[in-house]
Amino acid sequence: MCGIVGYNGKNSVTDQLLNSLELLEYRGYDSAGIATMNKKTGKIKIRKCAGRVADLRRICENDKKISTCGIGHTRWATHGGVSDTNAHPHRVGDVLLVHNGIIENYEELKDHFMLHKDLKSQTDTEVVAAVLNRLYDGDPHEAIRKAVKYLKGTFSLVIMFVDRPDVIYAIRNVSPIVAAYNENGTMLASDVVALAGTADQYIVIPEYVITELHKKKIKLFDLNGKKVEPEFLEIDWDTTRAGKGKYPFFMEKEIMEQPEALRATLDGRVVNGEIDLSVDGIPDDILKDCERICVVACGTAMHAGLVAKAVIQRNLRIHMDVEYASEFMYEDPIIDEKTLVLAISQSGETIDTLEALKYAKKKGAKSIGIINIKGSSIARESDYVMYTVAGPEIAVASTKAYTTQVLTLLLLIGRMAKVRGIFDEETEKIFMDNLLQVPEKLEEVLEKKNDIHKIARKILDAKDAFMLGRGLDYSILLEGALKLKEISYIHTEAYASGELKHGTIALITENTPVVALVTQEKIKEKELSNIREVQSRGASVVLFVREDFDLADAEYTDVLSLPVMTGEFMVFPASAALQLLAYYVSMDKGLDVDKPRNLAKVVTVE
Ligand code: G6P
Repeated sequence: MCGIVGYNGKNSVTDQLLNSLELLEYRGYDSAGIATMNKKTGKIKIRKCAGRVADLRRICENDKKISTCGIGHTRWATHGGVSDTNAHPHRVGDVLLVHNGIIENYEELKDHFMLHKDLKSQTDTEVVAAVLNRLYDGDPHEAIRKAVKYLKGTFSLVIMFVDRPDVIYAIRNVSPIVAAYNENGTMLASDVVALAGTADQYIVIPEYVITELHKKKIKLFDLNGKKVEPEFLEIDWDTTRAGKGKYPFFMEKEIMEQPEALRATLDGRVVNGEIDLSVDGIPDDILKDCERICVVACGTAMHAGLVAKAVIQRNLRIHMDVEYASEFMYEDPIIDEKTLVLAISQSGETIDTLEALKYAKKKGAKSIGIINIKGSSIARESDYVMYTVAGPEIAVASTKAYTTQVLTLLLLIGRMAKVRGIFDEETEKIFMDNLLQVPEKLEEVLEKKNDIHKIARKILDAKDAFMLGRGLDYSILLEGALKLKEISYIHTEAYASGELKHGTIALITENTPVVALVTQEKIKEKELSNIREVQSRGASVVLFVREDFDLADAEYTDVLSLPVMTGEFMVFPASAALQLLAYYVSMDKGLDVDKPRNLAKVVTVE
């Protein structure tokens, strides 16, 4: 979703802003723009357009590089269609502004301040620029302080005032802003990916703190004008990893990085053959005392929660709910101080997950965030955090974030079983052996990428596809189906195969590819028999199956055998195979694998 950048320094401001916006492209957007100012001449330039950052770059090509500071934006339309006019930055009078979030009361503000004549766009953002302009009387702090009192909703605002061409101002509520500096200047952005390679440390700007970006320093003030000391976090990502390397798409690179990411996620959390979460500071008490568990998450992260549910209910016998964060608080969830809430999120910024977590905390629940991005909003809101160590994930379709989330959840579950005395010696040994084998077993599947590519070629022309499995296989397939639909645009449904004959089987024809997943010992016969039911209706079935399962003499269009792991651990080889399947279908269809239409990587609006 919307990406924000700001730069004040001695490098070419235009280049710096465009490069940073490119790094934020992965968030998903439909238009882009920059505004630059020159301290000496007072010259202001706004360049913006619907389309890609590459289009914006072309528009800026002949601009003289004389500005000293500037702000930039990638917009994911919410209020007002995709157009040059609606793109940010917006200028009203003395105020230039970019914004991430949604101002819920923008219509009221238009009437209250009688702004109608000032506005050219249909955006809520321009209304904020107009309000600030009305309130601006030469004192930026005063105008910002007054303006935010009127705003309802979520926002990160990055502002320039035309008579202050050497300072960039920012303030936020919920929507994040991070900032950093180096010997060439100061910068801010809506996420740390845009800062990678420019600094070793960054600041997460606290809510309702006025930030000033000067050429050589960053100053923070609370709303009473009192100085706030910034808290620095390390940027510990290897910035060379931010590129695509030898791969045509980030998604392939990120699929292939999984063994390394999984090893990094295990690192330090298994000590002397036992799970030890002291690096995360998770006290055993909260794992021991909770009476129910609730996952709040969205998209792929929610699917990781479903896998955890299958494992927890079966092994630990603790009641567990997995909820779409966006639905959670509207359904009167059963939450109390004996509930442990797991907020799972790659970005740590998904607003629905953040709001659901806040709601659960108000009801007394304890919380653990399973998060990839350090210092993100959900990480800060959670009582405890376990970081997945996936590194930056750029492709919109989540891959390594998912498998590291599942692994992190299994670490948590393993520790829970231990402290609750549920594991006997033999079960614990099997669990630990499997846990440590996850990276190499997943690697074995990646080596089969050519076989998976061949299978993918056969479903390129499909309009619809089904994925069938039961129990844990069904949970894994929900994620597999999401992958295929989001990047190939083939309508794909995961179905609990036993349920198929109650309606959906009517849609199965010879032209409907069916991907079946059979990895669970206990239910494999039932799964295979459900597959025969669809085969009898003419469906061509691709079978992804644990390699030691006997298939008798049944025939399938294709069979991909998956390395053997015990029970729930089959999620890793199965998911890698499904990720590669989706990837090759999308790539062979000639689609933009990393940036599927309409989607955003970081969803910061409700
Ligand atoms: C978006 C992304 C998905 C992601 C979901 C939740 O829809 O495209 O890949 O699973 O948001 O994001 P989070 O950052 O909270 O894991």
